[in-house]
Amino acid sequence: MDDRTQLPIVGMIGGGQLARMTHQAAIALGQSLRVLAASPDDSAAVVANDVRIGDHDDPTALAEFAAGCEVVTFDHEHVPQERIHELLRAGHVVRPGPEALRFAQDKLAMRRRLAELDLPMPRWAPVDGADDLTKFGLPCVVKTATGGYDGKGVFMVDDPARIAPMLADGVRLLAEERVPLVRELAVQIARSPSGETRVYPVVETVQRDGICTEVIAPAPDLSAERNAEAARIAERVAVELDVTGILAVELFDTGDRLLINELAMRPHNSGHWTIEGTVTSQFEQHLRAVLDYPLGEVAMTAPVVVMANVLGGEPGGPRLDERVQRLLADDPAARVHLYGKAVRPGRKIGHVTIAGDDVDGLRKRARHAAAVLRDGS
Ligand SMILES: Nc1ncnc2c1ncn2[C@@H]1O[C@H](COP(=O)(O)OP(=O)(O)OP(=O)(O)O)[C@@H](O)[C@H]1O
Ligand SMILES: [Mg+2]
Repeated sequence: MDDRTQLPIVGMIGGGQLARMTHQAAIALGQSLRVLAASPDDSAAVVANDVRIGDHDDPTALAEFAAGCEVVTFDHEHVPQERIHELLRAGHVVRPGPEALRFAQDKLAMRRRLAELDLPMPRWAPVDGADDLTKFGLPCVVKTATGGYDGKGVFMVDDPARIAPMLADGVRLLAEERVPLVRELAVQIARSPSGETRVYPVVETVQRDGICTEVIAPAPDLSAERNAEAARIAERVAVELDVTGILAVELFDTGDRLLINELAMRPHNSGHWTIEGTVTSQFEQHLRAVLDYPLGEVAMTAPVVVMANVLGGEPGGPRLDERVQRLLADDPAARVHLYGKAVRPGRKIGHVTIAGDDVDGLRKRARHAAAVLRDGS
């Protein structure tokens, strides 16, 4: 509890852009998000008021951070299970809890659990040796069970030799069939400890080189049947895994069915559009859900909303401030979100959201906006 305001303190472990945007939502609720950041330069650390600097794997830093928080939640999935259990033993409330979070931390655990629930997935198998790959069938997709992000733990493999160094390093791996996907979708659901749920509109996500570049809401030309199927999958995962907070389910659309790619249990890149695009953003919804507040309306505020990620470009060109001004002049309806991060090529440094009613036009404008912010073009 914050003595000044008598309002709860939510602690978020991790100081990236997700924490930064959750802090923005906290402000409207009268709160200030407490952030455990690795560095004072982290995206959320440069804007939040209540920032602790520490390692998410340091028991002392975590204990000091959690003291006084109504609830502790996450900006990423890297906090080890042991550390979370220590927080629980000390009497802290952690949402989502470790049993649920495990399935967002470990793709092998996730696949096993979803198989038990008989939910639709790509064909997969654990990989303990090169033989497993030959047995599984090549070419295939190989993933590291833990630690991957932005496609960094994902490999298209056609030769078992490719994975030998990882196996030698003791990296846990799984194989998946390479799904002949027509497109990728995502659906988000919020679930509170009381069991209330809200499912956001299903979106289409566009990735380039394993990184999400664009999100279109709602997913164009998705049949009512597929929509209901995606919502059913999200609801089932959230309930069966006892997720609290926001759950994002990444899906492959094969044309005739939906397959679960992976899960995230925190606000997710595929939901950034909800800041302007729905009555309650995913960030406010995550706060409401982990605090066990009533959940907010998720209806869209416009017929179509498109979000484009701004990836860092090569050094040179006009200064970022010039690019921002150029974009604001070019497209006064574009909503700009920059994360206050140092620019590195390919790094997510912000996003732009544009709402309207014509998908193709909005996509062009969103891509243009992201390009202007990237390199001024
Ligand atoms: N089995 C598969 N078949 C075809 N494409 C796949 C498969 N698995 C992953 N991909 C492609 O690789 C991308 C990244 O995979 P995945 O989401 O598992 O990795 P990640 O690094 O955890 O992702 P994120 O960036 O969401 O953290 C997917 O969005 C998809 O484009
Ligand atoms: Mg993914």
